Amino acid sequence: MDKNIFKDISYGMYLVTTKEAKNVGCIINTLTQITSDNPCISISLNKNNYTNEIIKKTNKFAVSIISQNTDTNIISTFGFKSSKDIDKFENIEYKEIENLPIIEKNMCGYLICKVINIISLDTHDLIIAKVETTKKSNDLIPMTYEFYQTNLKGKSPKKAPTYIESDIDEDEWVCDTCGYVYKGKIPNDFVCPLCGMSREHFKKSKKG
Ligand SMILES: Cc1cc2nc3c(=O)[nH]c(=O)nc-3n(C[C@H](O)[C@H](O)[C@H](O)COP(=O)(O)O)c2cc1C
Repeated sequence: MDKNIFKDISYGMYLVTTKEAKNVGCIINTLTQITSDNPCISISLNKNNYTNEIIKKTNKFAVSIISQNTDTNIISTFGFKSSKDIDKFENIEYKEIENLPIIEKNMCGYLICKVINIISLDTHDLIIAKVETTKKSNDLIPMTYEFYQTNLKGKSPKKAPTYIESDIDEDEWVCDTCGYVYKGKIPNDFVCPLCGMSREHFKKSKKG
């Protein structure tokens, strides 16, 4: 199977958040609107993601729509680390709305959703949810997955449904925190432009 065909499927970029004892959340690209009347959406969450574990207990979550102005630190914190290990909301500005932690700053807006069905697939759960509350915050441009890959040179971790083992060239260095790829001879004082990690976090690509 040529998995490159999957690269031609378009997505947006979203932050899913929820709360049980602690605030949790993760980055996803797999959100789809299913219906317009009584609006429903679906999201695909890896069975090993802590956010998924908590959503299955609370049946409630929020989705913030990431814009081109969203701080890239939010993508690296929420997309490459687990809420099981750290408090992802520490040092991040958020509000408690309907008992959910929601980031509004530089986001296009948010949806608050109630789970109505979960379809268990091999590695992921397809979560179908009714949208109960919406807020469009401003007129920022939503970030597409293509913008994330092309402009921010971002990658997806293995738990993302769209993960593809990358076809990296020999002279490429990959940030072990966020997957940013640097091409060529890497300077010693290089700092990752996506997540701010230092040169030590860049590993030569496996093919190099
Ligand atoms: C660009 C991008 C897209 C992602 N898309 C998804 C997705 O659609 N579904 C998913 O389960 N994980 C996705 N992930 C991975 C999760 O955000 C990641 O595994 C996160 O660390 C899970 O955190 P948690 O354990 O706190 O839930 C994506 C990550 C990135 C950076």
